[in-house]
Amino acid sequence: MATRRQAAPRRNRDADWDAWPVGRYLAENYRQMHPCDRGVIHHHSAFYRQFAPGALTRTLELGAGPNLYPLMLAAGASRRIDALEPSAANLAYLRRQLTYGPEDSWEPFYALCRALDPALPATLTEALGRVRVVRGDAGDLADGRYDTASMNFVAESVTEDFEEFTALCTAFARSVRPGGRLVASFMERMPSYRIGAGPVWPACPVDASALRAVFAPHTVSLRVTRLAKDHTLPEYGDTGVLLLTAERPGP
Ligand SMILES: C[S@@+](CC[C@H](N)C(=O)[O-])C[C@H]1O[C@@H](n2cnc3c(N)ncnc32)[C@H](O)[C@@H]1O
Repeated sequence: MATRRQAAPRRNRDADWDAWPVGRYLAENYRQMHPCDRGVIHHHSAFYRQFAPGALTRTLELGAGPNLYPLMLAAGASRRIDALEPSAANLAYLRRQLTYGPEDSWEPFYALCRALDPALPATLTEALGRVRVVRGDAGDLADGRYDTASMNFVAESVTEDFEEFTALCTAFARSVRPGGRLVASFMERMPSYRIGAGPVWPACPVDASALRAVFAPHTVSLRVTRLAKDHTLPEYGDTGVLLLTAERPGP
């Protein structure tokens, strides 16, 4: 009798990240501020406000993509933010924003970030002056290099393989020094997805208990909260957004 074989999960290297549809992704997610962006910004701003202005020497944004607001949020506390990104399309977008100035659509995001954290520089351009765009991926991370690390919609949105998701989260957690802090956001229970009518990108549906299981062996003070599903976004099949903070065990 013939048996039906299940397709192998698509792994990170199986997708063409260089061809990430930057314009379409921005149009669907970041040209306007959505309720879930507000939620992420409030959460991450509270995380960064625990540090004195400029107290962090070097911080990480892993898989930065074309999203500028996590970089804005870090700019109050951090003197240097490494935006690590593998995709040629996203690197080109980030470099254009830093070289020629950010697109106007980012200004409302910066206004909210600065209203929440007056330690942020007066202008978005000044805040982005703290960012270094670095080509690379999670596999390039060295242990203990950063004071804090941030990751938004990356580990669960770049592979269908739960083991690879776990490895990516582990490299993220280990990238901060002992006592260093982590902040992250994840799509909740999102299956593989399309941006517009483009190709299917690999994703790994995760929930709060999966996040706790993956991060608990590497962190203390682990906290996971959630935002309700944002119906103003395209239907990506998610059930909301999960927000995480944690700390690497101290020296
Ligand atoms: C869904 S997008 C999220 C982008 C952005 N962080 C945001 O908040 O919108 C996933 C990002 O992860 C990047 N990426 C893919 N594989 C990666 C890897 N192995 N390590 C780090 N980033 C990766 C992609 O190029 C893309 O920028």
